[in-house]
Amino acid sequence: CNQQLIERLNQQHKLSHAQWEQLIATYQPADAAYAQNLAHRLTVARFGRKIFFRGIIEYTNYCKNDCRYCGIRHSNPHLKRYRLSEAQILACCAAGYENGFRTFVIQGGEDPYFTDQRLVPLLRHIRQQYPDCAITLSLGERSYQSYQRLFAAGADRYLLRHETACQALYEKWHPARQTFANRRRCLWQLKAIGYQVGCGMMVGAPFQTVASLADDMVFITKLQPQMLGLGPFIPHSQTPFRHFAAGNTQLTTFILSLCRILKPDVLLPATTALGTVESNGRQQGVLAGCNVVMPNLSPLAVRKQYLLYDNKAGVNENAASGIQNLTDQMAQIHYTVLKGRGDFQPDSALR
Ligand code: 5AD
Repeated sequence: CNQQLIERLNQQHKLSHAQWEQLIATYQPADAAYAQNLAHRLTVARFGRKIFFRGIIEYTNYCKNDCRYCGIRHSNPHLKRYRLSEAQILACCAAGYENGFRTFVIQGGEDPYFTDQRLVPLLRHIRQQYPDCAITLSLGERSYQSYQRLFAAGADRYLLRHETACQALYEKWHPARQTFANRRRCLWQLKAIGYQVGCGMMVGAPFQTVASLADDMVFITKLQPQMLGLGPFIPHSQTPFRHFAAGNTQLTTFILSLCRILKPDVLLPATTALGTVESNGRQQGVLAGCNVVMPNLSPLAVRKQYLLYDNKAGVNENAASGIQNLTDQMAQIHYTVLKGRGDFQPDSALR
């Protein structure tokens, strides 16, 4: 009967909250295999055995926020803070471009140093030097006006995980000044401005319940993001959540498959977190319906300072070797890498 629910999802591209709960609470290995098979077939039919590569540049680990799960939270004192200069960021882009990348993801903590006055010229430079590249931002919560300015300066896409669509859970994960309402306001505004938007959540994070995961699936269905980032929670030893266990790989890949079936056209990365909990995690993700991986283009010297969780994959290798590793991993499962812009193409455009 869970397989009927999965088929229903495939037909209708939505489920009720109660149906999501049932599916996630009672799924069996056979259901997971069924979902995975279907999700993988849908992905190959749409994208081929091809994976989009996006280059991530972790440009600052300063953060004013204090998310209880995150290693770069403001109140972690055991961390050397860094900011990349504009020249360093452009050098990362240059190296990525040489390697064939046509999407750059500028990601960082919420660093008040990076005002619009500082970001707009940076984005203009990237836009000018690399007119054929997509620029994705992942800078957290900002004002509507700021999002508009950054969009006008050349940014195309924005990643902002909603983290959880359950307000009570959101409040357990964040101090009171980081509000659930503002997080959602940001996502809807980004969409209204015209960004391609990515939301997402962690799987298996402390206090998460089946009902809250059902909330996430309902929220994703409402928001209709173009991208979806989700991976397992992994504890970080210098955070309040250090004693909690990591999220489960099987549940994570099951949810990834459900996301693919829910939104066959969504851009769905096999995340670094998934590649951290299991050495072949990203391969498992691709076989469960992912079609994106995001190699790290950050300078080797700063990688150890950008640890959101312990044992992050790839911190000891430089950009070129990380790219080679991921390319090889994809080749092992008979996938080739596409480094084009890889813009979202909605269902209707493909018909
Ligand atoms: N484990 C897994 N993912 C994490 N993130 C932050 N901390 C952790 C952690 N301990 C995720 C959050 C955030 C994204 C950048 O990384 O979902 O939005």
